[in-house]
Amino acid sequence: MNGAHIRIVNIRKNFGKIIVIEGVSCDIRESEFIVILGPSGCGKSTLLRIIAGLETATEGEIHIGGKIMNQVEPKDRNIAMVFQNYALYPHMTVWNNMAYGLKVRKTPRAEIEARVKKAADILGLNGLMQRTPRELSGGQRQRVAMGRAIVREPSAFLFDEPLSNLDAKLRVQMRLEIKKLHQSVRTTSIYVTHDQVEAMTLADRLIVMNAGKFDHVGTPMDVYERPATLFVAGFIGSPAMNIIPMELCPEGDAVKLPDGSWLPLAERLVNARNISVMVGMRPEHITLAEGERGAFRMPVELVEVLGADTLVHGPIDGENQLTIRLPGSYKVGRGDKLKLHINPDKLHIFDRATGMRIN
Ligand SMILES: Nc1ncnc2c1ncn2[C@@H]1O[C@H](COP(=O)(O)OP(=O)(O)OP(=O)(O)O)[C@@H](O)[C@H]1O
Ligand SMILES: [Mg+2]
Repeated sequence: MNGAHIRIVNIRKNFGKIIVIEGVSCDIRESEFIVILGPSGCGKSTLLRIIAGLETATEGEIHIGGKIMNQVEPKDRNIAMVFQNYALYPHMTVWNNMAYGLKVRKTPRAEIEARVKKAADILGLNGLMQRTPRELSGGQRQRVAMGRAIVREPSAFLFDEPLSNLDAKLRVQMRLEIKKLHQSVRTTSIYVTHDQVEAMTLADRLIVMNAGKFDHVGTPMDVYERPATLFVAGFIGSPAMNIIPMELCPEGDAVKLPDGSWLPLAERLVNARNISVMVGMRPEHITLAEGERGAFRMPVELVEVLGADTLVHGPIDGENQLTIRLPGSYKVGRGDKLKLHINPDKLHIFDRATGMRIN
């Protein structure tokens, strides 16, 4: 077994009168890689710090490896944290930076050497062990910070935006390294980020957090294909999902398109009578129409050529714009009028008042 089972049970956190976390729960399995994704200020770091014991919860319980941890000191929780500012000791060599935590814990010398060697092998740091942090690149420093966490052989890693100080290219490279690292050590990991690509690519399961609540907990594909709330729908996916208010017919089995025609739904929404809905459509699920049936027209206002894909933006009525994704080979220009079709199997329908998914 590598890594502990972590249970977050109804955790709530207030700072004075401000509610920052509103009672969240999740079971994190042994060896699972969980990513918490959400906008700035939604409570991600606070939750991670509660798990680490650096912050106390106002209510609720944290269990690690089957034991309740609320009263356990951070140093006794057997978890290692990796932060955005790697906080290496500037005057120590890489070797000493990695060994320091073990020395403080009075680990025998031979054991320290073996563990540091193993971590250096995993992270490809062997040639750099005698350098100090200022003689390293940002990516190498981040690797040392991870090395320092690995040598402790903790039962869980907590990562708080560990890559956000790196440039875009290095971020991609380190993201792959973190994934490989997890595949080799299999330590339970909780990784906080507001970068959705990082979240989608690293996560076994994803928690999308919004204003102190868990809006959706699921695999990346589940979150992408069936977002549980309007917030998740708008947050996951690039370019963002088109979300447009539409009228639902009284029978609950069709929505009204901008040109006034009705688009039949894949199912009848029985509990949705007389409610106002928002309809979500991913840019890749709106395609060029073959015939007239179910087709509507959109004038092209803006074209973005990305190479493999071309993004086309245009109005569909006085208020609403659509973004659609066409193959890069398709020639289209401003002023063209496209005839479009929406795949009804791919619609996401939300209650406008509550924001909850209803299909
Ligand atoms: N010690 C504190 N006292 C009062 N409010 C706090 C304290 N720490 C955090 N907060 C507030 O709690 C909320 C959540 O903060 P947190 O740092 O958890 O957000 P986050 O999701 O990690 O954001 P970011 O992506 O910007 O790091 C914020 O509104 C923040 O201002
Ligand atoms: Mg944070």
